[in-house]
Amino acid sequence: MTTLIGLVGTNSDYSTNRKLLQFIQRHFTEKSEMEIVEIRDLPLFNKPQDKTIPEAVQLLADKIEAADGVIISTPEYDHSVPASLINALNWLSYGIYPFVDKPVMITGASYGTLGSSRAQLHLRQILDAPELRARIMPSSEFLLSHSLQAFTDENTLIDNEQIEKLEGLFEDFLKFINITAQLNHAHDLNKREAENFSWERV
Ligand SMILES: Cc1cc2nc3c(=O)[nH]c(=O)nc-3n(C[C@H](O)[C@H](O)[C@H](O)COP(=O)(O)O)c2cc1C
Repeated sequence: MTTLIGLVGTNSDYSTNRKLLQFIQRHFTEKSEMEIVEIRDLPLFNKPQDKTIPEAVQLLADKIEAADGVIISTPEYDHSVPASLINALNWLSYGIYPFVDKPVMITGASYGTLGSSRAQLHLRQILDAPELRARIMPSSEFLLSHSLQAFTDENTLIDNEQIEKLEGLFEDFLKFINITAQLNHAHDLNKREAENFSWERV
């Protein structure tokens, strides 16, 4: 069965993005095994000179490396991703490269009408950086707007059209993971390039 990581893009205790991932986990239980992971315990990225990776980061990197794909659900703060999410991605691209060629689907929830669309666009750009280089599922957006009102008391999505959309995108993501597995001819080189890449080289 396809193994997935659901990465909660916030360190907030109450998160509708976490709820969305929990819904995805439950709703697609027959199609995939998904583990939900948190970024709230990661220290603040401080670019350590010796590139020592904190244990919590390494643990997260190992899980991402082992999974077939990752779903990242991001809130939107000031038209971008939360600091805690970019913090996690900074760690996960500093001497370790678990995202290189990893299939990623982006989802997002926000309290407003745009469902974190601007944050999602930024996230796509970030994931394309030379030391992340994820394979981001193209032409797909799952925008959960007015997310405070979007769930029942049992944490199910209220809007059936949203569920239908999610079902379509999820099916596409499983196909995308299979297709991506065939796009592996440059994988070793991509990995090496990420490893050899340095912002500090003159
Ligand atoms: C500092 C801050 C900035 C925010 N900026 C935006 C924003 O630019 N666009 C938006 O739609 N919502 C914004 N919001 C509200 C968010 O929609 C909401 O906090 C978050 O996306 C919901 O995600 P969560 O339930 O997973 O925490 C902001 C909230 C905070 C606390």
